[in-house]
Amino acid sequence: PELWLIVPAAGIGQRMKAECPKQYLTISGRFILDITLSRLLHNAPFKGCMVPLSAQDHWWADSESAKDDRIQTCTGGTERAGSVLSALHALNEQADDNDWVLVHDAARPCLDAHDLSNLIDTLFEHPVGGLLAAPVADTLKLAGEGVPPEVEKTVDRRRLWRALTPQMFRFGALRAALEFCLENGDAVTDESSAVEFSGNMPVLVEGRADNLKITVPSDLALAEFILSRQ
Ligand code: CTP
Ligand code: MG
Repeated sequence: PELWLIVPAAGIGQRMKAECPKQYLTISGRFILDITLSRLLHNAPFKGCMVPLSAQDHWWADSESAKDDRIQTCTGGTERAGSVLSALHALNEQADDNDWVLVHDAARPCLDAHDLSNLIDTLFEHPVGGLLAAPVADTLKLAGEGVPPEVEKTVDRRRLWRALTPQMFRFGALRAALEFCLENGDAVTDESSAVEFSGNMPVLVEGRADNLKITVPSDLALAEFILSRQ
């Protein structure tokens, strides 16, 4: 099977409160989206790459990635899952249902090259696929209904993991799972939850905890620091 890459970049970055979508903020003079894409394409043998963009996007044309002929773009959706599904549809003619597709957030530029190859090597023979994930470090509390809430109980964290990206699934199975969830209005915040809804069990592949998704303003300096040490 071939490997395909989807990097959803159609979000507006509301929580980042910047003057442009966060994937177009710069670190060391480069768009975050360019850092993310070049790192992925440099470290795995992808057959092709699709980047869903917002219909209002007017930054892409100025990116390094726009000049890279391995990268194609399409129009994303209003939710992340819709953006990923539109990218799958855009790749449909080129990909086989048994191929692998890796989905990685544009806003995660700190992905470690070893984590990427370990994910691919670990799952390549697997029937379903899986995702990079990190065990939670903090003690977790389940909140009650009050304001401010009281602790209802302490949750056993030993089996709890944070879902990261890339997430890697069979092309046809992921398309069917996302189509089903979007038609039925199921809330899916990652590919894995859609695949879980379809009755399959994705594998958790342990990755570095510093594969952070840039979300709020303070994450930018953190990402800069992590990248400077890699
Ligand atoms: N994304 C997308 N299409 C959407 C929403 C999000 O392609 N309709 C992408 C974002 O560009 C980002 C990734 O999905 O790379 C993860 O989403 P998130 O961190 O939530 O980014 P935003 O939705 O842009 O941020 P916010 O939720 O703060 O508005
Ligand atoms: Mg969002």
